[in-house]
Amino acid sequence: MAERSELIVLEGVTKSFRTPGTGEDLQILKGIEMAVPAGDSVALVGPSGCGKSTLLNIIGGLDRADSGKVIIQGEDLAAKSPDELARFRNQTVGFLFQNHHLLPQCSVLENALVPALAFHGEPDRETSDRAAGLLQRVGLGDRLTHRPSELSGGERQRVALVRSLVLQPAFILADEPTGSLDPETAAHMAELLLEMNRSQKLTLIVVTHSMELAAMMGRVLKFDSGRLVEVSAEAHSATGSAS
Ligand SMILES: Nc1ncnc2c1ncn2[C@@H]1O[C@H](COP(=O)(O)OP(=O)(O)O)[C@@H](O)[C@H]1O
Ligand SMILES: [Mg+2]
Repeated sequence: MAERSELIVLEGVTKSFRTPGTGEDLQILKGIEMAVPAGDSVALVGPSGCGKSTLLNIIGGLDRADSGKVIIQGEDLAAKSPDELARFRNQTVGFLFQNHHLLPQCSVLENALVPALAFHGEPDRETSDRAAGLLQRVGLGDRLTHRPSELSGGERQRVALVRSLVLQPAFILADEPTGSLDPETAAHMAELLLEMNRSQKLTLIVVTHSMELAAMMGRVLKFDSGRLVEVSAEAHSATGSAS
């Protein structure tokens, strides 16, 4: 049973993919255990192909586990209907990817408001004001009417950050959010995420290859043969400084 204080609980989560051609099942996740209280910041690390994106997709309700339990806010995702899952993805989860997928024909403000269109038609005044306020906060207050093509890569990623936050999700799932940014811009993005974590108690689950970003999170979980193991803060910073 999930404890009440945990926001995200995974118990024995497994996931296999059928290999094209051979038809054989390749097991990627082999029993993931994870418990994340609200307000935590967690880095997920591991080599390419170990299952990081697969795990984020399962936590975010984009894909289903083969077995095991995914319990978010005390509710089992497996029990949700497709409609309920869609609503969960829209209102409980903030997705932030390496490729931000902004709509090129829409302004910065319109892009930030895209999640508000899914279930509500027109964004209400409060949501529009919140989007504008968040854009201000990430330094884009004077870019509201720009198109994505008129922004730098770092600015586009900040629009994607605001879009992920605009409906006030319970947690952010970020998949290599600084992967395509130069070091300075990446550091700024990391600071913004952590500032949201501290000031709003926004829970962060961040997949990253960056040792710097991982070390800024409260906890680091590492993939090890399809399972997750906790890396102690000391061991982690030692790894970080050695590489
Ligand atoms: N839809 C799919 N069909 C078959 N194999 C997949 C599929 N999605 C992912 N995989 C395989 O699962 C493994 C883990 O993928 P992924 O979670 O994207 O890794 P990571 O994000 O850690 O780099 C990879 O080896 C990949 O080839
Ligand atoms: Mg990935």
